[in-house]
Amino acid sequence: MYACWLRKSTLVTGHMARKSVLQIGGQHSLAIEFANPFAYAVARQETFAKFSESSHPSEVKRMSRRRKIYEGKAKILYEGPEPGTLVQFFKDDATAFNAKKHEIIDGKGVLNNRISEYIFENLNRIGIPTHFKKRMNMREQLIKEVEIIKLEVVVRNVAAGSLAKRLGLEEGEVLPRSIIEFYYKSDELDDPLVSEEHITAFGWASPPELDDIMALAIRVNDFLSGLFLGVGIQLVDFKIECGRLFEEDIMRIVVADEISPDSCRLWDLQTREKMDKDRFREDLGGLLESYREIAKRLGIMNENEPVRGTGPVLVKSD
Ligand SMILES: Nc1ncnc2c1ncn2[C@@H]1O[C@H](COP(=O)(O)OP(=O)(O)O)[C@@H](O)[C@H]1O
Ligand SMILES: [Mg+2]
Repeated sequence: MYACWLRKSTLVTGHMARKSVLQIGGQHSLAIEFANPFAYAVARQETFAKFSESSHPSEVKRMSRRRKIYEGKAKILYEGPEPGTLVQFFKDDATAFNAKKHEIIDGKGVLNNRISEYIFENLNRIGIPTHFKKRMNMREQLIKEVEIIKLEVVVRNVAAGSLAKRLGLEEGEVLPRSIIEFYYKSDELDDPLVSEEHITAFGWASPPELDDIMALAIRVNDFLSGLFLGVGIQLVDFKIECGRLFEEDIMRIVVADEISPDSCRLWDLQTREKMDKDRFREDLGGLLESYREIAKRLGIMNENEPVRGTGPVLVKSD
């Protein structure tokens, strides 16, 4: 592996196999992997005279160690250290409306990694199976590889967002009972709402799998509702993804992906203030402060712990 670390303004043409935009200490930079030593040497010579360059050992090491499996809107999956494991990297990207709105919020990935870790660890502890193994560092966690079921499973307790709009309900109205909805996970189709009939007819999940998914979703809802109520926060709704985990000869449905303020609606019980990604969707500002407040109330991070400027942060790659 031949890699170097350059400032963002550096123009490197040809030669490169893969380019990543990184943020190191608040500065955007390019980390570039080259296909062979010759290409690396040429590019290095071409740019060295004009721009300052230095290798960033931890990033170079990370790049050479791991194969990228998938890059999504908010996270990247890398090959894990053992078969059947993956490393889930939390980016700072905030997206909404199927990525039509996109911003980088410095430190969001660090907070989501911690909040999601806390929730998944506790789900595991109370016997709700998840993909989570352990947090590795500020932005990465080790997870079990699963076969993702292409559904966003949404549980709603209070009317908000698309449900309020679709059915003409007042935002904030408590629902007669918790409602589970399914959305087909497809960026091209804008994640359409689908019914159990669609899911089983098209074979996205079998009827017994769907039963397991719904049972998991309700258990997660009960756990999260209580957890947040205890710290003065109302769980309005949330989304989970489930996957098939194959261990030895058996297959189990487990909770995968993340559970964080990116995937929940969380309102302060007293002030009714929104503390989740709606702050970004609705341009309310103060997203990072809300996420930090949630982490603080859950006792996860102390107030002074830095979430910004903590080593290399991948913000874009191709
Ligand atoms: N344990 C797992 N095994 C395999 N894939 C997973 C696992 N957990 C989450 N994923 C998938 O990894 C991706 C996480 O990246 P994300 O940025 O959320 O992607 P997306 O833009 O597709 O939502 C998602 O597509 C999610 O379905
Ligand atoms: Mg996602």
